[in-house]
Amino acid sequence: MSTQEPITQEPPAPKVPVHLAIIMDGNGRWAKQQGLPRTKGHERGAESVRVAIRTCRKLGIRYLTVYAFSVENWARPKAEVDALMDLLKRFLRKEEQELHDNKVRLRAIGRLSDLPKSVRRELNRVMHATEHYKEGNLILALSYGGRTEIAAAAREIARKAKAGELDPDKVDESTVSTHLYAPDIPDPDLLIRTSGEMRISNFLLWQISYAELYVTDILWPDFREEQLIKAVEEYGRRHRRFGLSE
Ligand code: IPE
Ligand code: IPE
Ligand code: MG
Repeated sequence: MSTQEPITQEPPAPKVPVHLAIIMDGNGRWAKQQGLPRTKGHERGAESVRVAIRTCRKLGIRYLTVYAFSVENWARPKAEVDALMDLLKRFLRKEEQELHDNKVRLRAIGRLSDLPKSVRRELNRVMHATEHYKEGNLILALSYGGRTEIAAAAREIARKAKAGELDPDKVDESTVSTHLYAPDIPDPDLLIRTSGEMRISNFLLWQISYAELYVTDILWPDFREEQLIKAVEEYGRRHRRFGLSE
């Protein structure tokens, strides 16, 4: 007679997004609440990015895309733009070790040629130094605009069609996808926006077609591990249907 083995059942693994995208908003409002200049809000916001990188690694989220600077943000006062570019440069220098420690590859999407040369140099250096990491990915959206990205893809597709490299009748969704800034990265599963604004602000327009949306009133500098875990837990309870009826 065989002895009955107790049936042990593993609890189901919590559902985490493969790709999390974040509209990091509210640095200015945070600073105002504290009676500080806006730049202090951006500095505190940079700390939240560091926390988000670590938390994503801990939770097993493979891709984290953060909206750090939009094409529209160039129209802000020069002093603020300069401060943001300077902060970005410092962030890249300071966080390089953090990326290595967490085995995270840095990438960037956007019209990177708009960035000051010194920022571009730092960005390229850190992207190159981390390009061998595969499991974790941090994607910085810099001088990024969803419409700009789609227009650039359309331009490239048109150029190829004109050169006879591509049949215009065969242009489909995957053709467009493969001409975006980072065609190998899966679409975001979860999009978080901090500070309560119910809008997309030109972020990843093509890629978020079926992303789950999560908006919180918490300002970005206050959005830390606990808040991120809460958002991911809510994502785990969502039922994604992708247009199906069940
Ligand atoms: C987000 O914070 C950071 C960037 C857009 C660079 P904001 O600077 O937009 O902060 P609020 O929205 O004015 O509070
Ligand atoms: C979106 O925030 C851009 C970034 C987070 C970088 P904004 O503050 O620029 O967006 P709006 O102006 O509120 O739409
Ligand atoms: Mg804002």
